[in-house]
Amino acid sequence: MELHVTKSGEKTLYIPSMDETYHSRNGAISESKHVFIQHGINRTKGDIHILEIGFGTGLNALLASQEAKVQNRKIAYHTLEPFPVPNELLIELNYGQLLKDEKLYKKIHDSKWESNELITNNFTIHKTKQKIMDINLHESQYDAIFFDAFAPKKQPELWAKETFAKLFKSLKNNGILATYSAAGQLKRDLRSIGFQLEHPPGANGKREMTVGKKTPTL
Ligand SMILES: C[S@@+](CC[C@H](N)C(=O)[O-])C[C@H]1O[C@@H](n2cnc3c(N)ncnc32)[C@H](O)[C@@H]1O
Repeated sequence: MELHVTKSGEKTLYIPSMDETYHSRNGAISESKHVFIQHGINRTKGDIHILEIGFGTGLNALLASQEAKVQNRKIAYHTLEPFPVPNELLIELNYGQLLKDEKLYKKIHDSKWESNELITNNFTIHKTKQKIMDINLHESQYDAIFFDAFAPKKQPELWAKETFAKLFKSLKNNGILATYSAAGQLKRDLRSIGFQLEHPPGANGKREMTVGKKTPTL
C-alpha cells in the first residue's frame, strides 16, 4: 500500500498489486461527499444508523461525523474493515487538515475496535475487523449502507448477489444503499433482490452511481 496524490491534490492510498486506489483518482473528498453524504445521509431523515463496507482511510466516517454536527442529527456508524490501514500511512493522509478537523479524525482512528465509541455528542462509531461475507447482520437495523468496496472488477467476490441480499435484509424499510458503482451486473442483482434503483450522476464527472432503496412491500 502506498500514497497517491489525486488530481485535486488530496492524497489517497494505492495498492500496486491490484492497481486500485481507495478513492477516485480525480479527487477523494469530492467523491465521498457526493456519493455518501449527498446521496447517502441527505436521503435520510432524523437520527440514523449507518453501515459502511470498507472503513479504509476513515474519510467517509470523518465526513459523516461532521455532517451529524452540521445537521444536528445523531449518527451511529458501524463500519467493517478486515485490513486496517497501518498508522504510518494514516498520519500521512491530509483529510483531517483539509477538512479542518484534525482532532476529530484522530479520535475516529484512535477509537477502539469492536466497541461502541462516543466520538462527539452526535456521533458514535463501532469499527468491526470482519469481512462482509463473514458477518451476521440483524434484520431491519440500518437506515443507510455505504457500499465502498474496491471496484467489482478488482474484487468481484465482494459484489456477490448473496452479499446484497444480506444487506437488503439488514436495511429498515425505506433504508438506502449508496455506492459509486453502476455496473450492469450490480444493477440486475440489486433489482432482482427487491431494491428500487436510481442512478444519479456519479462523482467527478462519472456518468452514474447507484442508490438502492428498500421500499416496503404490501
Ligand atoms: C475503496 S476502499 C474504502 C475507502 C474508505 N471508505 C475510505 O473512506 O477510505 C475499500 C476498503 O474495503 C476493505 N475491504 C476489503 N475486503 C473487504 C471485505 N471482505 N469486507 C469489508 N471490507 C473489505 C479494504 O481493506 C478497503 O479498506
